[in-house]
Amino acid sequence: MEEQRFSQPEDSQFANTDHATRDRALFDQIAEKYCRKDLLPATQHARRHRLFQTLKSVQMPPHADVLEVGCGAGFAAKYLEGRIGSYCGVDYSENLIHYARAHNSGPEIEFVAANIKDFQPGKSFDLIFAIGLLHHFDDLDSMLESTVQLLNPGGWFIANEPQPGNPLISLARRVRKRIDSHYSSEQKELTAKSLRSACERAKLSSVQIVPQGLFSTPFAEVPLHPQWLFTPVSILACFTDKIVERLPEKAFHSLSWNLVVAGQRQEH
Ligand SMILES: C[S@@+](CC[C@H](N)C(=O)[O-])C[C@H]1O[C@@H](n2cnc3c(N)ncnc32)[C@H](O)[C@@H]1O
Repeated sequence: MEEQRFSQPEDSQFANTDHATRDRALFDQIAEKYCRKDLLPATQHARRHRLFQTLKSVQMPPHADVLEVGCGAGFAAKYLEGRIGSYCGVDYSENLIHYARAHNSGPEIEFVAANIKDFQPGKSFDLIFAIGLLHHFDDLDSMLESTVQLLNPGGWFIANEPQPGNPLISLARRVRKRIDSHYSSEQKELTAKSLRSACERAKLSSVQIVPQGLFSTPFAEVPLHPQWLFTPVSILACFTDKIVERLPEKAFHSLSWNLVVAGQRQEH
């Protein structure tokens, strides 16, 4: 990976600050490591798979103006190139946005360093999506409300969220919170029911929730070595998940790592 200059916040400096400041500081701190996930073939394959499986829940207009909230290092912009009209990525980690601008920019691609609750783009979007974001919000209702305001009437909001329904996965996450200092210990657990009611409170209609990721998700999250071994295994895991994710949702709902929640802003 090309040498990047990332500013490193001091942990102790943020001990008495609010949730969003601590979360932003954590992502600034781990930015360099975070960016690498999409550079390793095994991880990249699983992350592309997760993105496309997330977005397939809605019919996207061909020239859609798309906003990604919590875009991280902005690789989704590259994965979606040629499939959408324009892409705007927002993230409050300045280090991640710095990387995104340097490596994932292009025509009709824009990256903004901002907290979504303060983001005022002066335009609205046909589709807003977020991967792994909602459980970082301290106030889900007000964050969702401000996000939904940025949708065109009839536009879709889609989020991919870790689900706590599988006790084994839930345990694995709890262990990781304790032992991995790069994993936020303040993340919430959002059940299908709580996601649905949050979307309904944000006045989204046609809310749907589908399970996502049975074998591929660990490859999207944890870079495994050697790549010559784990790349084909990751490809196989994604291929298997593509088949599994076509099964009736009840067949693997409580086993999946993630839930995709989608809702539409009402037409006036
Ligand atoms: C788990 S990461 C996911 C990043 C990216 N979507 C991915 O899949 O790699 C969550 C991201 O959301 C960002 N984030 C969290 N709360 C935010 C907020 N209120 N406004 C903007 N970005 C936020 C964090 O900085 C972080 O980059």
